[in-house]
Amino acid sequence: MTDPPRPLVAGNWKMNGLGGDGLALAADLARRAASAKGEESPACDLLVCPPATLLWRVAEALGQSPIAVGGQDCHADAKGAHTGDIGAEMLKDAGATYAIVGHSERRAGHSETDALVRAKAEAALGAGLCAIVCIGETEAQYGAGETLGVLEKQLAGSLPKGPGIAPGAAKVVIAYEPIWAIGTGLTPSLDEIARVHAHIRGILGGASAEGGSIRILYGGSVNAANAAEILALEEVNGALVGGASLHADDFWSIARSCP
Ligand code: 13P
Repeated sequence: MTDPPRPLVAGNWKMNGLGGDGLALAADLARRAASAKGEESPACDLLVCPPATLLWRVAEALGQSPIAVGGQDCHADAKGAHTGDIGAEMLKDAGATYAIVGHSERRAGHSETDALVRAKAEAALGAGLCAIVCIGETEAQYGAGETLGVLEKQLAGSLPKGPGIAPGAAKVVIAYEPIWAIGTGLTPSLDEIARVHAHIRGILGGASAEGGSIRILYGGSVNAANAAEILALEEVNGALVGGASLHADDFWSIARSCP
């Protein structure tokens, strides 16, 4: 068995944040990171994913801090005639080191397929970014007991080919986000989260050094009150946080909940 990977607590700001509040939030987090000493420091890597309009300014605000910056999506092509889209190299150029791909809000709202998500993940890796590949079942699939099968199919279709299995595995992060738990205040039970994460780890080849090194984040209504018990679960290697990441107190408290 390999040691569990260092947790990652990532904030997905979604379509929230203008120069004023977004930069104030980044500055607040940078201040906390700079003044946290010893045991006050979160036992995890930290990441914020602001809207693209704020990316470079947030990256600049966090430049001296250990908090990384990521994009919320990237195009599968490096560049070209794709009006309104952003390539992975552009994210990197703006200061990002991560890109979220395949978030359920993009899968649903922009008809993104597993194949497209895989292409985006490969583009992110190709640009030298870590790709956070999101998967998750709908409420109906959860109700029908189809969760594990749905996740297996999404992983098979949307992970970059040979992720984690090839060198650079640590560059892929999986985020398990049950769609019905996003923004609803609902979460699966701790047992359910643990069972799903163990299953994903098995699919990744958890017994191998590469498969064991891939971080599996949980996302969906993580908040300051429930973070500690979720983050303490085996095979939960951090969290992808939406709403609560917009509040410095909450995000910091979640990060500090890492065991
Ligand atoms: P909430 O934390 O607001 O439920 O959002 C989760 C999410 O979608 C993060 O990507």
